Amino acid sequence: MCGIVGYVGEKSALDVVIEGLRRLEYRGYDSAGVAVLTDGVLVSDKRAGKLQNLEKALQDTPLPVGKTGLGHTRWATHGAPTDANAHPHLDNAGKVAVVHNGIIENFAALRAELAERGHTLLSETDTEVVTHLLAEQFEPSGRDLAEAMRRVCRRLEGAFTLVAVHADAPDVVVGARRNSPLVVGRGEGENFLASDVAAFIAHTREAVELGQDQVVELRREGVTITDFAGGPGTFREYHVDWDASAAEKDGYDYFMLKEIAEQPKAVADTLLGRIGADGRLTLDEVRIPDQVLREVDKVVIIACGTSFHAAMIAKYAIEHWTRVPCEVELASEFRYRDPILDRQTLVITISQSGETMDTLMAQRHAREQGAKVLAICNTNGSTMPREADAVLYTHAGPEVAVASTKAFLTQLVACYLVALYLGQTRGTKWGDEITEVIEQLAAMPEQVDKVLDTMEPVRELARSLKDATSVLFLGRHVGFPVALEGALKLKELAYMHAEGFAAGELKHGPIALIEDGLPVVVVVPSPRGRSVLHDKIVSNIQEIRARGAKTIVIAEEGDEAVVPYADHLIRIPVTPVLLQPLVATVPLQVFACELATAKGHEVDQPRNLAKSVTVE
Ligand code: M6R
Repeated sequence: MCGIVGYVGEKSALDVVIEGLRRLEYRGYDSAGVAVLTDGVLVSDKRAGKLQNLEKALQDTPLPVGKTGLGHTRWATHGAPTDANAHPHLDNAGKVAVVHNGIIENFAALRAELAERGHTLLSETDTEVVTHLLAEQFEPSGRDLAEAMRRVCRRLEGAFTLVAVHADAPDVVVGARRNSPLVVGRGEGENFLASDVAAFIAHTREAVELGQDQVVELRREGVTITDFAGGPGTFREYHVDWDASAAEKDGYDYFMLKEIAEQPKAVADTLLGRIGADGRLTLDEVRIPDQVLREVDKVVIIACGTSFHAAMIAKYAIEHWTRVPCEVELASEFRYRDPILDRQTLVITISQSGETMDTLMAQRHAREQGAKVLAICNTNGSTMPREADAVLYTHAGPEVAVASTKAFLTQLVACYLVALYLGQTRGTKWGDEITEVIEQLAAMPEQVDKVLDTMEPVRELARSLKDATSVLFLGRHVGFPVALEGALKLKELAYMHAEGFAAGELKHGPIALIEDGLPVVVVVPSPRGRSVLHDKIVSNIQEIRARGAKTIVIAEEGDEAVVPYADHLIRIPVTPVLLQPLVATVPLQVFACELATAKGHEVDQPRNLAKSVTVE
């Protein structure tokens, strides 16, 4: 939520910052702004709306060139998305510029205090207090902006990433972080700060992950990191293993389309190197000793949104393969209900970004209660994997579209791997059983590819439903979370009423929603394996069809029982029961994307949303 860029070097700071903001716009697009230091003068511009509004303004009235600067793309929390509330915020003398991601919880008290001391605050934001506090602290800190920042941070409560420049501190950019993301990019004679490495990946792949409560001072010749007290900093240097091309649209109209198409590779990459020389499943990053995993008596999985749907599917695999009870919990609810956790609880957090505040806070709560935490995450250098006891990275590559697609499929793969690993460690799965599932997983990229090759009728169907007002999604067993995911995609992209239900729950209320012509998507379980479920859902399809629903049935190749009751039939390849979500989700992604496009929506940047939700 909110994207931040800072730069110091020999290039035009404005060019670097605007390019970085373009790559970070997925984090928020309510407004954008920049500030540049040029010959001891601070110049700035900011505009409500998307980055293109700012770019247009800068074309009409260019800023003078400078080599030190910062920028921001906003997802509004405090104050409407107006020019005045856009970042950067400048002090009354126009010397300090600050951009911020997060929420400063004690801003009201600080604001009142500043007003008493004669400061005039011009916006409704919480951020502006930081600008004024920094302006006040600059001289008493010996004109050392980093020291001023440390002093200010010690007064702030809440979550924040801050980046600041001062007209009287030439060639210096200062950043600070608590609970919100900030990464350093190290170049030759230039250095970068950003919410995400994507912002500077075109310039350097050498990154530094900052620990909690750190202040960083960027100069051309180097980077200095300290904690808020001025003591030695905590950080980790790493090399980013993808390049700028991975964060480009690559000829696709939208990132979402590209990311849907990348799913076979993302699944394959996440499976890569998981079998050791001894033929056993190895998850190198899982640093929790086997003995601890053997003593686990409960697994709790915590996540939000799409990641939560992955968690729901993981429960089926974990309980089936390990016989350990598994609970799944929405991160935003978790710590507020006093959950029962102890040293024998394994908590798994799932997050594409590794920065979702609800999940991060739940993860911290779990660790405080003594539970071991394993983070499943797609973003190297993010907070959750850094703070967890162990991590399993998904290898989806950068996911830019707000709607999660390839991250979801790779999260599923990671969950299956964790479930198998637990089964292996605890002896509830034989080696050859594990090998069999791994082989089945290894076949999935090809199966996903097959689904992608047959999507034209799905796109056509989506276009024909452009004027529908509501769509329901039904599923059973692992098809239930898939139904929820289909509904979530449609809500966030097409802004339509969409709901997912467990098909068995229909008769307990939701069936009253069925009326003539209502499109209902049904994810049908395999007729093999748990065929009782298959037969029951075929009955459910008949029930809704009898009441006028337009049935859109997603069923395995060869499942002939559904044919008489399907107004539209979407075929998916035959897969093992538990792995079906890997193929069944794909048509739903395509469906939502096409419907949103038909409605003229911005697929990659749906209204009111941001990719990375760093507020609770
Ligand atoms: O980064 P995370 O996986 O923690 O994000 C969780 C949700 O915010 C995210 O999955 C959201 O629901 C997506 N926009 C759905 O497409």
